[in-house]
This record gives sequence, C-alpha cells and structure tokens, in this order.
Amino acid sequence: MTANKKLLILPGDGIGPEVMAEVERVIGWLSDHERATFDVGNGLVGGAAYDAHGTPLTDETMAEAMNADAVLLGAVGGPKWDGLAFEVKPERGLLRLRKEMELFANLRPAVVFDALADASTLKLDVVQGLDIMIVRELTGGIYFGEPRGVEDIGGGERRGVNTQVYTTPEIHRVLRVAFELARKRSNRVCSVEKANVMESGLLWREEAQKIHDAEFADVELSHMYADNCAMQLVRDPRQFDVIVTDNLFGDMLSDEAAMLTGSLGMLPSASLGAADESGRRKALYEPVHGSAPDITGQGAANPLACILSFSLCLRYSFAMAADADMIDKAVENVLAGGMRTADIMQDGKARVSTSVMGEAVTTEMEKLLG
Ligand code: IPM
Ligand code: MG
Repeated sequence: MTANKKLLILPGDGIGPEVMAEVERVIGWLSDHERATFDVGNGLVGGAAYDAHGTPLTDETMAEAMNADAVLLGAVGGPKWDGLAFEVKPERGLLRLRKEMELFANLRPAVVFDALADASTLKLDVVQGLDIMIVRELTGGIYFGEPRGVEDIGGGERRGVNTQVYTTPEIHRVLRVAFELARKRSNRVCSVEKANVMESGLLWREEAQKIHDAEFADVELSHMYADNCAMQLVRDPRQFDVIVTDNLFGDMLSDEAAMLTGSLGMLPSASLGAADESGRRKALYEPVHGSAPDITGQGAANPLACILSFSLCLRYSFAMAADADMIDKAVENVLAGGMRTADIMQDGKARVSTSVMGEAVTTEMEKLLG
C-alpha cells in the first residue's frame, strides 16, 4: 500500500461519463482490496465545461490538472457544440491541457487481442498478433504553429493559414521517448515524416538520425514517408514495432492503426511530459475513441479503452505494473469469455452493456487475485 495518488478525472462529453464510470468501478475495486488509494478529484472539460462555465476548460480545472499526479480524460465534443466559435470549441479544452501540461509524447498502442482478431476489417492473417506502438508528438507542429488564422485579403477573398514548425529540442525529446520504448519492445523505431516535400520533415529526419547515432545506436532505426506509412499500415502492419511521428501525421496514422485492431473502443492512450528531478512526469490518459454522440446514453459504449487507459496510468504514472498487468489480463479473459459490447459484437457472442462489461472486468480481477 503506497501513499495517496492524486488523480483528476475529467469525463467530458458524450460517452465519456459512461465509460469513466467503469474506470471508477475499477478504482473502487483497487481501494476496497487495499491495493492503492487514490485522491480522486472530478472536473469538467469540453462541451460539458462550456455549458457550465462558457469555456471548454476553466483556469481552476487547468490548475488542478497541473497539480494532479495523473489526469484521466473521457472524450470531448459533439454536434451540440458544432456552432461554437473556434476558441471555445470542446476540443480547445483538450488541446489546452496537452499544451500547458507540456504532454509532448502521446503513446498510442495498437494491439490486436486474439479474441478479436477477426473483428478487423483487414484479413485475419494480416492483423493477428499485431502489437505496435505509435508515438505521436503532441504539443508542436501544425496544431500549435504560428502564424495561424483566417484573414481577409480584399475583394471578398480570404486566406487560411496554419504553420508546421518543429525545433530540434522538440524532435529530440519525442525521439528519445520512442527509442526508450523500443528498447523494452522489439527494438525497432520507424520515424515518419515528409522529408521529400517539407523542410520541417527533412529536419525531423536528420535529427532523428543524429539522436539515434549519438544515444541509441543499439536500436534499429528506419525512416519512412508518411504517405507510404499509411499504405504500409494496411499492407503489412506487423512490419512495425514503434512508429514515431509528428502531431498531424500521428493523428491520422493512429486512427488508421486503431482500426486495424477491429475497434476504436479498445484502444487506450497515454500523453506524457518530461520527467522532473524525481522522475515524475505530468501525464494524461484517455481512450483513443471520441465522444460517440450517436450512442450516448444508451449503455452501449465500450468501456475497455478507458479501462485500459487507466491501466497505462498505473504503469507509467504510479509504477503499479502488477495491477496494470492484472487489469490487462482481466480484459483479455473477459473477451475470451465471449462478452462483447456493440462495437465489437461478433456472431455467437454475448452482447452486453457498458456497465456489465465494466463489472465483468472487476469480477475477473477478483478471480485473478485468487
Ligand atoms: C485525437 C483527436 C484530437 C486531435 C481532437 C479531438 C482535437 O482527434 O486525440 O486524436 O486531433 O488530436
Ligand atoms: Mg485523432
């Protein structure tokens, strides 16, 4: 039993609160079994925060996030807020968290569970056993680059501008995360950009190679253009171990990789900042799926991506690998036992609700504990 861990839970919009309730069930289980106690705070983000406060993230919630050991986020956005001004759109809340917490490394594992291998739209023999990690740069590039905006250029015409920009320290720190992860996996990193078209991509490639040669020569490094990577991911995804890329390419390639696994509803993510002197990193954990407004409130959402995100939180923020392993194993067993939420439903399996799936996970954890 270790000291209290400060968690800030931001369920957000759409199915966010429904899937987060199942994470809270797992947190409750851990404290009931005296495996850990958490200091849990709750807050609003996205459209929910806008409705209550007129902003997708209040300064108070931002401050709480800076103070927390880890933030768990559900999802943001939905058609209800489509008409809002750009600066107060739900997504701005999430982007502000990423930027101010300096969460530059976004880890998006794409793993195909054996029980779900035939749920992919790709052929079984292409995706079976897939286990790749996409490391997406999260606080730079075109998402935040200046200049940006829409301006009048006279004669009733307008011009929209965004800027792709990377500095060498930004490239180095995310590459280091990728190389370090690779060392614990299959020791291969594929760095992805468009060095054939973009100067910032050429810089990325050169600096990736430099960091490799200077600090990680033991890791195998390859370089790939982003369009080719998109193609290779559906042609032969298992050729990859760790893919590291910029913010925008990472956004797109991680959605593509997610779909290889059969369901966005299965995929967790971790967003990490730099380690301080004590080794502690600011961190935010969220499922890769969005707010899914079409199924909100029906008890149909898959809570597993959010539960697996919490497992990443235990692993990366709290060094609770045994508990994280137990959660991952419980999820695997529940799937092997035949329970499915709608998004991963297959012939002959049992369709269950969000809460039944969440309960099945803690029941399985109980069994694993023996
Ligand atoms: C993601 C999402 C976000 C992004 C949106 C919601 C701002 O697509 O986390 O991948 O584009 O980064
Ligand atoms: Mg995305």
